[in-house]
Amino acid sequence: MTNQLAYTDDVAAATAPIYEKLSEQYTESHWKALAPLIYEINRLKKEKNAVILAHNYMTPDIFYGVGDIVGDSLKLAQVAAEAEADVIVQAGVHFMAETAKILNMDKVVLMPDMAAGCSLAESITAADVRLLREKYPGVPIVTYVNTSAEVKAESDVCCTSSNAVKIVNALDSDEVLMIPDQYLAEYVQTHTDKKIYTWKGSCEVHERFTPEDIKKYREQFPGIVVLAHPECPQDVLKEADYTGSTSQIINYVEDKKPANVVLITECSMSDNVQVAHPELNLVRPCQLCPHMKRVTLPKILKSLQTLEPQVHVDPEVAKRARKSIDRMLELSA
Ligand code: 13P
Ligand code: SF4
Repeated sequence: MTNQLAYTDDVAAATAPIYEKLSEQYTESHWKALAPLIYEINRLKKEKNAVILAHNYMTPDIFYGVGDIVGDSLKLAQVAAEAEADVIVQAGVHFMAETAKILNMDKVVLMPDMAAGCSLAESITAADVRLLREKYPGVPIVTYVNTSAEVKAESDVCCTSSNAVKIVNALDSDEVLMIPDQYLAEYVQTHTDKKIYTWKGSCEVHERFTPEDIKKYREQFPGIVVLAHPECPQDVLKEADYTGSTSQIINYVEDKKPANVVLITECSMSDNVQVAHPELNLVRPCQLCPHMKRVTLPKILKSLQTLEPQVHVDPEVAKRARKSIDRMLELSA
C-alpha cells in the first residue's frame, strides 16, 4: 500500500532518468516522496497489463513519470480506440474516461477520482439535446467531447478542439448546432460560412482569461508569442497569435520555436512544455483546472492496486454515443 513505499536504491536508480528531466520542477526531498509512487505505478502497469492515458494538463510527475500516451482529447480518444491493454487508466477528467470506456466496453477503465468533472460537461443534459432537436429540426448536432455519454448519444457527431472546424465544414448542411461550448462555437463561426447555433456552456478555466491579460503580456514582454486555446472567449482569441488545441499549441512551439511565449490555457501544460524545452522563455499565467488536479499519483496507484473506481456506461447509451465518436474519428482521420 502507498504508505509502505520507500525511496530505496532500486527506486532511485529506476527513476533517475525521469528526475533528470524534472529536477527544475521538484526539489530533491519532494522527489523522494514522488519517486516510490512512480516506481510502484510503473511496476503495477506491467503486472496488470495496464496503460495510462495522460492529458496534457496532468502535472509533470504524472505526465513524464507514468503517462504511457500523452496528448490532447483527440489523441487520447484515437489511442483508446486501438487499445490492446486489459486496463486503461485515465489520467484526465471523467468525460475522457467515459470516451475510453465507450470505445472499450470489454475492458476495465479506471478513473482515479470520479469527481474529476468538467464545467462544460455539467452544462448540458441529454434532455436539453432532445429539446434542441425539436427547436432546430434537421440541423446536425456537433457535440464537443467534453460532455457525458448520454449527451454524445443524442448527437450526430463529436468534435474536439483540434478538429472542430474540420468536422463542421465536412457536414452537408448550411446550419450546424455546436454544443455545449459557446466560445468554441464562436471560434468555429470565424472559420466557416455555415450558420452556427450554440449553447451557453463554457470552460470555467479558459473563461477567466481576458484581452487585458494579453495586452499586459505584450507590454511587459515585447515580441512575445501568444498561443490560446479555443475555449477562451472570442475577445481573448482575437488578441492571440495562434489558436489551437493543447497538442496543436505544443506542436506550434516545437515547429516555430518562439523565443518568448505565453500559453493561454491551463497551467500544468506550461510546466510540461518547459520540461521538454528548458531553453524557452515561457511566461506562465496560472489558471488551474480543479478537476484535472484531482488526479494525483497516490490516487492513480490506489486505482491500479484495487482496480477501482471503474467507469461504467450503459451499453445502449454507449452504442449510440460510439456512433458519434466513430464519425468524428473517421472525419478527422
Ligand atoms: P484539448 O482537446 O485541446 O486537449 O482540450 C481538452 C480540454 O479539456 C481543454 O480544456
Ligand atoms: Fe473542462 Fe475546462 Fe477543465 Fe478542460 S480545463 S476539463 S474544459 S473545466
